[in-house]
Amino acid sequence: MSIIQEEKVSINDIVKKLNEKNNRREAFCAYIYDLEQLRKHAASIKRSLPPFCRLFYAMKANPDKRIIKVLDEIVDGFEAASAGEVRIAKAISKKPIIFGAPAKKDYELELIVKGETELANIESFHDANRLQYLAESVQKKVAVVVRVNLQDNVSNSYLKMAGVPTQFGVAERDIPQLLKKLSLSPNLEVRGFHFHAMSNNLDAEAHVRFIAVCLEKAVDWQKKYGISAPVVNVGGGIGINYINSKAPFDWNVLSEGLHNLYKQYKSKKLELIIEMGRYMVAESGFYATEVIDVKVNHGEGFALVRGGSHHLRLPAAWKMNQPFIVLSNEKWDFPFERPIIKNSKVSIAGELCTPTDILAKDVLIKEIRAGDILIFQFAGAYGWTISHHNFLSHPYPEVYYYE
Ligand SMILES: Cc1ncc(COP(=O)(O)O)c(C=O)c1O
Repeated sequence: MSIIQEEKVSINDIVKKLNEKNNRREAFCAYIYDLEQLRKHAASIKRSLPPFCRLFYAMKANPDKRIIKVLDEIVDGFEAASAGEVRIAKAISKKPIIFGAPAKKDYELELIVKGETELANIESFHDANRLQYLAESVQKKVAVVVRVNLQDNVSNSYLKMAGVPTQFGVAERDIPQLLKKLSLSPNLEVRGFHFHAMSNNLDAEAHVRFIAVCLEKAVDWQKKYGISAPVVNVGGGIGINYINSKAPFDWNVLSEGLHNLYKQYKSKKLELIIEMGRYMVAESGFYATEVIDVKVNHGEGFALVRGGSHHLRLPAAWKMNQPFIVLSNEKWDFPFERPIIKNSKVSIAGELCTPTDILAKDVLIKEIRAGDILIFQFAGAYGWTISHHNFLSHPYPEVYYYE
């Protein structure tokens, strides 16, 4: 295991500057977003895609308005999973919104019927009945894609939404029956298929194979059921290597695979939608928090921070270590001893009254002291908004944007 120590990262300077500027005694705790990194990263993803791809941002990864604003310059549209996300997107962007949610409320179906969204997922037979009923009542025609829960899942990703029994989509074997039903639903127009199937997949070759399977199935259903349904939405699922950042998802392999698939399917005039969340925004976000106490308990080292899993829930939820660096803070104004642990394994715990409030466990650290600042990386996706903010009623972290 490598020793984590102070590294030179641009974000260090930001935190130092903020500390100096604010010159205050309360412990530092903030989300920091590097919007310049986000802009460059998203633009390079977009540039690397072949012509049949449309790139959508899955807002659930991070609906922060400044992030949406930056991405609005680059992506083809937004994927929303609630009326709230539709509202956020509409307030900032004029780009198309596609809607996908497994348990749609009536007010969400109404948004779809009103034409606020370009496409909506059908996730069940009941979903189809409800949308047809509502669309018919106002004599509107609604464009839909059928969300398929494939029989097999081609990846070993951490979370699987398809290829296993889940609440998502319609089982592959029931698709013919659903297509028949939709052909008898005059107010619904089937535009294609939706296949989002996994989360945090790190195997780019497996991802190419997955997309190839999606295209093959979609073309087969088109042919068999005589439908003109050019949209193939392969969802997101592209991963971030939280455990070993030196072995990231190989984007070039995916890009090359997509170009090859484009050549293969060029004559079919398909539209391949990628709705990406985690891979788009994870790297641009940092969660920076100050060490409040350092101690040894029953022989094990702990650093306790201002903040924790109520701000950044992912490591506790996935039982993994969120990677971080220690930013040394030389400021120590007190007349008493500064707690310190050197060259030892340390667990990073939060301020909550539960032993599960752990951001990283047993990490070998060169030196950590009360007053140092920890900067957690890859906190831009599924960070703040998936966390249980109000547990213990601590103040929220600040938010800074770096451009
Ligand atoms: C339907 C759908 N599309 C896209 C995404 C984005 O996935 P990711 O963040 O893994 O790219 C999700 C995430 O849960 C999803 O449910």
